[in-house]
Amino acid sequence: MASVLVTGGAGYLGSHTCVELLSAGHDVVVFDNLSNSCEEALNRVQELTHKSLTFVQGDIRYQDEIDQVFSDHHIDVVIHFAGLKAINESLETPLTYFDHNVVGGTQLLKSMEKAKVFTLIFSSSATIYEAIGDIPLHEDVPVLSKNNYSYTKLITEQMLQQIAKADSRWSIALLRYFNPVGAHKSGRIGEDPQGVPNNLMPYITQVAVGRRKKLSIYGHDYDTIDGTGVRDYIHVVDLANAHLCALNNRLGAKGCRAWNIGTGRGSSVLQVKNSFEEVTGIPIAFELSSRRAGDVATSCADNSRAVTELGWQPQYTLEDMLADSWNWQKQNPNGYN
Ligand code: NAD
Ligand code: UFG
Repeated sequence: MASVLVTGGAGYLGSHTCVELLSAGHDVVVFDNLSNSCEEALNRVQELTHKSLTFVQGDIRYQDEIDQVFSDHHIDVVIHFAGLKAINESLETPLTYFDHNVVGGTQLLKSMEKAKVFTLIFSSSATIYEAIGDIPLHEDVPVLSKNNYSYTKLITEQMLQQIAKADSRWSIALLRYFNPVGAHKSGRIGEDPQGVPNNLMPYITQVAVGRRKKLSIYGHDYDTIDGTGVRDYIHVVDLANAHLCALNNRLGAKGCRAWNIGTGRGSSVLQVKNSFEEVTGIPIAFELSSRRAGDVATSCADNSRAVTELGWQPQYTLEDMLADSWNWQKQNPNGYN
């Protein structure tokens, strides 16, 4: 069993990964500044697993704060979720995004090197792919940053590749997530966006629970099955489990390798909305509106590398994702508040 430092562990993906890590018997130290999360998520992680974790409130941009974690705790592996993730916001405040995601990442790496911890799992994103033409997207298709957020992911990936090339002690997994949705089966932890949700799934569940009037469908003239955008939605628990597979893979390996974390199945916005209505029985008011800047028609993973090399296999269907998203929202209409 490993002792795992989870940066950003109080957030949406981090909290679900902590549940799986603790359930598998690993020790967990969470490091999070709570800028987009709350400690209640971690209370619930412990309640669900009947295990305790260590929480340290701190910011990855401040070296002394991360150094302190490594001197206070024995760490074998770092799973690095901490960072900012709103594409629109990244266009308005690029410096803030580079600071948290790139400078923060660099500070973390320096602390790891000092502490002689060389195993890292990094949260990357399918948004780095050019996503024009080759579908499903294989790890080797061209990458191209389209906005400041994806640029921070691309820069960090390239930095990690160079570091692993120059120093053979490093063992790094780049996990390129497609569209994580859903929640833990219990409905105790889930996605809790601040303000108006940018993403489709929380928007739909907030319409269903009465917090938003109607869903705007961004674009209905794409070259897709019904004209609306197609994405590869992946259940957050499947995604969390991919981190356990990556951890097992990296503990015995060297170098830096990228894996797509998606199901390989695409669903359009209309298919998601209609399936949500079928699964929950709740009608979702909607309007067709114009395309959202920066969106692509289709994004879908070729996940064969993760299946073959990591021994990872996503288990959940779109219907499971919708039922679990709704279960979380229904039980927590205002999120963790
Ligand atoms: P989230 O906002 O729920 O979690 C991120 C966590 O990091 C939060 O708890 C936040 O408080 C913390 N944090 C932010 N800046 C920090 C800093 N400087 N120091 C310490 N903690 C800090 O986001 P999430 O959806 O769980 O995403 C986790 C990671 O996965 C992010 O790196 C994100 O870019 C990446 N990712 C997410 C998606 C997605 O759709 N959710 C898709 C692809 C990649
Ligand atoms: N959409 C709507 N209405 C909404 C929100 C979204 O029609 O209110 C549509 C979008 O146009 C798109 C699809 O629903 O066709 C999915 O949009 P999301 O915003 O949920 O997801 P994206 O694919 O745009 O981006 C997400 C994350 C990124 C991440 C990327 C790939 O927001 O951070 O997946 O992992 F990088």
